[in-house]
Amino acid sequence: MYGSEAVSHDSERTAFRKAEKKYKLYYDHNKSSKKKKQPRPVDLSEVIDFESILDSFNRNGELPPETFLSPCDFDRPVFCLKSRPGFYFIPGAISVEEQCRWIRESLTSFPQPPNRTNHNAIYGPIDDLFLAARERRVLVEENSSYAGGGSDSNSFACKVDGPIWKFSKEPGAPSRGNMSKSMLASVLLRKLRWSTLGLQFDWSKRNYDVSLLHNKIPDALCQLAKKMAAPAMPLGEEFRPEAAIVNYFGLGDALGGHLDDMEADWSKPIVSMSLGCKAIFLLGGKSREDLPLAMFLRSGDVVLMAGEARECFHGVPRIFTDNENAEITPLELQFSDQDDLCFLEYIRTSRININMRQVF
Ligand code: OGA
Ligand code: MN
Repeated sequence: MYGSEAVSHDSERTAFRKAEKKYKLYYDHNKSSKKKKQPRPVDLSEVIDFESILDSFNRNGELPPETFLSPCDFDRPVFCLKSRPGFYFIPGAISVEEQCRWIRESLTSFPQPPNRTNHNAIYGPIDDLFLAARERRVLVEENSSYAGGGSDSNSFACKVDGPIWKFSKEPGAPSRGNMSKSMLASVLLRKLRWSTLGLQFDWSKRNYDVSLLHNKIPDALCQLAKKMAAPAMPLGEEFRPEAAIVNYFGLGDALGGHLDDMEADWSKPIVSMSLGCKAIFLLGGKSREDLPLAMFLRSGDVVLMAGEARECFHGVPRIFTDNENAEITPLELQFSDQDDLCFLEYIRTSRININMRQVF
């Protein structure tokens, strides 16, 4: 989505690309064995673990030589890296209750029109995707001659200029001898990769399209972003979240190395919140040739990138969905209500990242 898919032969050899390959999920195919395919073991010994850094800091006040404590006035430790000025890591910044709240919102309200998602380009705006997946509905392409026709109580129409897609309880019925195209809502939910809040980002032009209809970022999320951004803000200045990108990761998904350079003022931080399964984050330097640092991102961690760190390549080569490594037990306990099973089922194999920006 950041144009990282089209990697040239040369970029295969950059330090950043090598690190992505090192941590990426690969499966070992053992044709002679009937056992389930096994993920290739990965050496995690060089991955910075801010949770254990926080633990030992709380126990004995000690920090690894490459890290230091931000001198800001914050209600919990904020860590910095000597080699990456402008980068801040706040382990466990978001309470489990709040994590659950933002997971719910990320799945129900954030993908709602006029917010755009990766599905817009194909299906137009889709309403209530999460509900439709829960109710096992199917998104069906309507024959255009029916466009504007009456809608029954079991469906809600999606209005687009091209073909019309709407949710139905049944798969596409044959029309004029052809099967209508249809797609399970649950499959579309699994394929949800991003939604945008506030000012809408145009991925094809790689800029913010201020002419697109949009809602403000919800107030509670703005308040949270303002509080979290404080360690990276000049004294007395307040962060103004104007746009957010919500990334959804499933098993095997990655976010290729990129820079977020479409915002006017790079001195303002990007505030990035992790939810759900644990991931590996790569923080490179200003060139793809610079050796990236790898670190774990867990549910509830917040990362800030401001100033020089805004110019550093970064990405997420891997998420962990297995019981041992996902580290989502607190979320599982919090989502134990019968009504929350749908959220639990999603988050057990997914990660969500909410990335908030001040654009102007
Ligand atoms: C982004 C980004 C990082 C993450 O959306 O620009 O860098 O932790 N996300 O998912
Ligand atoms: Mn980014």
